Amino acid sequence: MKPAKALGFATRAIHSGQEPDPLTGAVTVPIYPTSTYVQQGIGEHKGYEYSRVSNPTRTRLEENLAALEGGVAARVYSSGMAAIHAIVSMLKSGDHLVCGNDLYGGTPRLFNQVMADFGLEFTYVDTTEPENVERAIQKNTRMVYVETPTNPLMRISDLAAIATISKRKKVNLVVDNTFMSPYFQQPIALGADLVVHSTTKFLNGHSDGLGGVVVCAKPEHAEKLAFLQKATGAILSPFECWLVLRGVKTLAARMEIHDRSGRIVADFLAKHKKVKAVFYPGLAAHPQHALAKRQMSGFGSMITFETGSLKNANKMLKRLGVCSLGESLGGVETLISHPATMTHAALGEKGRQAIGITDGMVRISVGIEDVHDILDDLDQALSAI
Ligand SMILES: Cc1ncc(COP(=O)(O)O)c(C=O)c1O
Repeated sequence: MKPAKALGFATRAIHSGQEPDPLTGAVTVPIYPTSTYVQQGIGEHKGYEYSRVSNPTRTRLEENLAALEGGVAARVYSSGMAAIHAIVSMLKSGDHLVCGNDLYGGTPRLFNQVMADFGLEFTYVDTTEPENVERAIQKNTRMVYVETPTNPLMRISDLAAIATISKRKKVNLVVDNTFMSPYFQQPIALGADLVVHSTTKFLNGHSDGLGGVVVCAKPEHAEKLAFLQKATGAILSPFECWLVLRGVKTLAARMEIHDRSGRIVADFLAKHKKVKAVFYPGLAAHPQHALAKRQMSGFGSMITFETGSLKNANKMLKRLGVCSLGESLGGVETLISHPATMTHAALGEKGRQAIGITDGMVRISVGIEDVHDILDDLDQALSAI
């Protein structure tokens, strides 16, 4: 087969790291539920010694995800938060990070309520203006940490511009690419050093397992993360690696449907008289629509909309049928969440107000059901307001 770089995205998703099993020819990667490996003599083995360090099913998933993001290597973890924790574990007390001010709520919770006690320092800025990132970089800054589009406000940051600043200032750029998946956005090609995902979302795609991945552009980061994973142990189990390997085979096909239906649902909501505002980068009225078009090859299926109040949001959410109220995204099923009481509860009311998250906001992850059923369900639910 051609080298991975020369293959199309869907081909890499199905074949990179997913080569037939050399022993039997099985077309799917075997699950190796083993803790250890028999060695032929002292220091003589087949490349595997102990499954906290490495496992063949995990190796295959890491090869696959590195090929999809265009990195040199990847490490997979027991959750997205474990992956983010691994990234900041590369730093030491007194180091500083410049972070987006509209991140998934669990990320600032980890930074402020856990890592700050280990001496890491954080400054949060609106990364939609690259100058804010530049201004916030200090002598002890080691990383810039960006999510784009943001969660839940769907603001877009210019990755190429932030990467140029980060390179000039000699700090590493980390991008959480969970919302777009590598199918629609390629941060490493735009200059990022590390890409993180909650594989729980689009990469797995079937809402049947948690996981996280860090993809590295530089071999020294891959080595450091391998050491840290061996030392700290937050691995993804062979079975859950296999679930992601299975899910990722259909990533390209799923993302196409997510994107197509996402655009239809966003247009429907934008025209609905009960909806006060819609946040979706695919709408021409989105403030960074032009940047989104340039930076991403699709707009995805994450949409936030304003129902006006907590009472309205609750009335509507209680009426859902095809769509489900639940705290996740990126699955084949349409999931709707309420950021103020779910993903962003940890920010507190003041924290939410500061970045514009209201009690009436509802976030939808449009699934791949028949889109007319999703529209009918939203319409009947909105009629309760
Ligand atoms: C953008 C983003 N990053 C990271 C995470 C954390 O991932 P996990 O729930 O797999 O720990 C989430 C979870 O919702 C997320 O939405």
